[in-house]
Amino acid sequence: MDQAQRLRDIIGDAQVEGPDARIITVSSGKGGVGKTNFTVNLGIALAKLGKKVTIIDADLGLANVDVLFGIVTKYNLSNVIKGESEVQDIIVKGPYDINIISGGSGIMDLIDLDQNELEKLIHTLSYFNTISDYILIDTGAGLSKSVLSFVDAASDVILVITPDPTSITDAYALIKNIIKDDQKKIKLIINRIENNEEGDEVFNKLEQAVSKFLSRELENLGYIFEDNNLKRAVRKQIPLLEAYPRAIASKGIENIAYNLENNHRYAKSNHSFKAFINKLMNKI
Ligand SMILES: Nc1ncnc2c1ncn2[C@@H]1O[C@H](COP(=O)(O)OP(=O)(O)OP(=O)(O)O)[C@@H](O)[C@H]1O
Ligand SMILES: [Mg+2]
Repeated sequence: MDQAQRLRDIIGDAQVEGPDARIITVSSGKGGVGKTNFTVNLGIALAKLGKKVTIIDADLGLANVDVLFGIVTKYNLSNVIKGESEVQDIIVKGPYDINIISGGSGIMDLIDLDQNELEKLIHTLSYFNTISDYILIDTGAGLSKSVLSFVDAASDVILVITPDPTSITDAYALIKNIIKDDQKKIKLIINRIENNEEGDEVFNKLEQAVSKFLSRELENLGYIFEDNNLKRAVRKQIPLLEAYPRAIASKGIENIAYNLENNHRYAKSNHSFKAFINKLMNKI
């Protein structure tokens, strides 16, 4: 029996109680566009809507999820995969009972995992599936193979862009690399806008290029305004929605959470956890 078949059997055995979590990867072509802040605050906004949320930090960059929450994580997913700690040891509780998981280096080196480690990864992810309505994965920027694996496997992908022209061209390059046989629609967030017209302009520009040259559709999930409160929140290490719930950027993120949850244009997605694991394993 080959490795892929054995993994499929493990997936088949994984206990799935209740409905599957919606797995959303947050990504961008260019770095520094606001992914981590968006992921953290989207998590809070969804939790405020009564959803059970798990955030997985798969970004090895500097401004990590734990830093924005002002928490310290002792162990990470890598430790569990390597058999050095238990799942319960890596879950840190944030506001509104959000589960915060640090990925460590392991999650981005999927290709190098052996059979035993892959099994641990699957079991861990299926545990998060049972305790969550939403699993948000901050994948970091760029086109590494593991980033693309997660983006392709997840039921939803949210790309964060800014009106900066290089952010738009880098987003285009990323969209081009997201496997085309997938019917999954790419959801777009435009961050750091000065006014709604600017958001519309950026969305239309990218949508037209993607529709014309890549024959793919984009969904406009919403805009987030340029807001100094966000920078203040980062410095305080308190997520924006907690520190400044009435800030204009907070309103934008809450609107996006509402859209994801309630607006049927955006709410549709393939929720199957097994499909996620299968796709992930097929990529490696
Ligand atoms: N809406 C906004 N208004 C004002 N400043 C913002 C906004 N969004 C992001 N920023 C600024 O951009 C910085 C980077 O944000 P963040 O760390 O979330 O980006 P990132 O895409 O996760 O970066 P990386 O690619 O390095 O992981 C923030 O610390 C903040 O200073
Ligand atoms: Mg980041």
